[in-house]
Amino acid sequence: MGGSRGIGRASVPEIHPLAAADPNAIETLLDAAFGTDRRGRTAYRLRAGERAIGPLSFCAHEGGALAGTIQCWPVALEAAGGVRRPLVLVGPVAVDPARQYGGIGRRLMETMLAAAAGGAGGPGSDALVLVGDPEYYGRFFGFTADATAGWALPGPFEPRRLLARLAPGVRLPAEGMLAPRG
Ligand SMILES: CC(C)(COP(=O)(O)OP(=O)(O)OC[C@H]1O[C@@H](n2cnc3c(N)ncnc32)[C@H](O)[C@@H]1OP(=O)(O)O)[C@@H](O)C(=O)NCCC(=O)NCCS
Repeated sequence: MGGSRGIGRASVPEIHPLAAADPNAIETLLDAAFGTDRRGRTAYRLRAGERAIGPLSFCAHEGGALAGTIQCWPVALEAAGGVRRPLVLVGPVAVDPARQYGGIGRRLMETMLAAAAGGAGGPGSDALVLVGDPEYYGRFFGFTADATAGWALPGPFEPRRLLARLAPGVRLPAEGMLAPRG
């Protein structure tokens, strides 16, 4: 049997730091998963001027091809009294449409959650936030809208899709505006 070379081998996704992926392939995959108008989404305003958090951002390769990515970003919740509480914005999480529903999204999320639980993402790793479908992020990973009902974003969003996942014992301001951490 010949061994595989480089990243990936057929049907067995391999997870690596996002830096292992070709930047052009990442953009192509995100366009395929979310559409080429994705940059107009409110979540992109939260990422403006920031760099993804390397220790919380990963890629999946399958058969040598990029199959999925997860990126996380440094944001802050601006609350009363000048409070700026660091949070980690999760996403985009994207899987190549031809490879969806095969467990790649879950593996990427679980890899990121394990890294965050170990504090690898630095400040805010104990409070993860995302804009996404609760039917997916709630069901598999425990994200809820419980803590976010009083939060605002710098653009339109569906409140039911603004989700958070907090480490045990963490409490966040009930009201505030999410912003790039700066
Ligand atoms: C959402 C996404 C990251 C999930 O990754 P994936 O590898 O395709 O899916 P997984 O294998 O991890 O999970 C599959 C399960 O999640 C469910 N699921 C996947 N996406 C879902 C969604 N948006 N809402 C509800 N359930 C969803 C599937 O029905 C499946 O459930 P089952 O195990 O009961 O059959 C991926 O499908 C994707 O990139 N989609 C395009 C972008 C998108 O629509 N994102 C929406 C959330 S922001």
